[in-house]
Amino acid sequence: MARTWSPDSWHTFPAEQQPAWPDDAALLDALKQVSAYPPLVFAGEARNLQVALGHVAAGNAFLLQAGDCAESFDEFSAVNIREKLRVILQMAVVLTYSLGVPVVKVGRMAGQFAKPRSQPFEKVGDLMLPSFRGHIVNNEAANEEARRPNPERLVQAYHQSASTLNLLRAFTKGGFADLNRVHAWTQEFVGSSLEGQRYEDLANEIERALNFMRACGVDTEHNSNLHEVDVFTSHEALILGYEEALTRQDSLTGDWYDCSAHMLWIGERTRQLDGAHIEFLRGVHNPIGCKVGPTATPEFVIELCQALNPARIPGRLTLIARMGANDVEDKLRPLLRAVRDAGHPVVWACDPMHGNTITSTGGRKTRRFEDIVTEIAGFVRAHRAEGTWPGGIHIELTGDAVTECLGGTDALSETDLDDRYQTVCDPRLNGRQSLDLAFRVAELIRSNLNA
Ligand code: PEP
Ligand code: CO
Repeated sequence: MARTWSPDSWHTFPAEQQPAWPDDAALLDALKQVSAYPPLVFAGEARNLQVALGHVAAGNAFLLQAGDCAESFDEFSAVNIREKLRVILQMAVVLTYSLGVPVVKVGRMAGQFAKPRSQPFEKVGDLMLPSFRGHIVNNEAANEEARRPNPERLVQAYHQSASTLNLLRAFTKGGFADLNRVHAWTQEFVGSSLEGQRYEDLANEIERALNFMRACGVDTEHNSNLHEVDVFTSHEALILGYEEALTRQDSLTGDWYDCSAHMLWIGERTRQLDGAHIEFLRGVHNPIGCKVGPTATPEFVIELCQALNPARIPGRLTLIARMGANDVEDKLRPLLRAVRDAGHPVVWACDPMHGNTITSTGGRKTRRFEDIVTEIAGFVRAHRAEGTWPGGIHIELTGDAVTECLGGTDALSETDLDDRYQTVCDPRLNGRQSLDLAFRVAELIRSNLNA
């Protein structure tokens, strides 16, 4: 018989990567506040996302999951959110138009604050400091005080998520995302570039198609599909106390949902089958993801599917492969085969970022654009070989003109990294690199479909 589950049943399991909060009473107080606040998302929305992801699992749609590595309390503005949304919408248009299937858009936004770390401490000069764990826990400044976990940050993370979500809802339903504005999404710095020109050409074609539909008598004015989009939210469900505080019982179905985001995922460092993160997420009814890195075996992945989706509901589980550019084909194929043969209806997404992080000669964490493309190419080839659907991509990006990843059409070099290196955690693709990537991904998938 299945073990009973409750929002707090994870407490009796080992939980990796939890901050050493210095003051239990202050922590409980913060969690109590968050649990009294309204849900950030609604169960019905999470169910809609699960249905959309079910279409991805069946090979009839594509998942674009993208946003910051770590959202920042300091870089929090309407412009910042709008620019990130704009680049996601542009990428989605390129993918939808080129692949001819719906693109399910999920932001690493409105709650992507917590970061797992390889080491609990970091040596800075002579100081041994607790690692930075994301703004929901502490601050990245290199001093003892900044690095001390502060539970008031849990409350601030809730409020920032609420404002971000509010703005996202306004932008996606209030006119900004209208397909008639497909030209207006072109950022200045993108407009002048090669990929900007390609985007302009595509936008012209879409405009012509809309005119054609109108000329045929189709009422494009009153069709909400053309004026609004759904952009769902997601983050790594890392700090389990926070997630528990936002877990609510749906009044319609009686099921439990983690209402901190539509979709939650389990990171590479917290996917232990007997661990607290899997225990917690197996019981909530949101669509969930799990990172799958190069050490994952076919047996492990099947057990993971059993633990997280025993009822085999399409769209419930997304496996996010992050193998590294060199290993992806060899590592992934046995996993694809095992899941396919077991009949588990998963979405397979490719995270080409986290297996390709390198250190520049100047000591900065960075990634090469070409490694990112190479990993996606291997991911697509592996799926073609196994007869499965390369369901989506999972990307760290920003709409801003940062210089954090190497290469792309601007051929950013190691010395360019010093110009605008702004991330509080991992290096992100900038607006141009992101759009460029969307075209490259569309080509990779199309050429494999036609091959
Ligand atoms: C992340 O997605 O930011 C992350 C830490 O990834 P992973 O768990 O795959 O290392
Ligand atoms: Co990251």
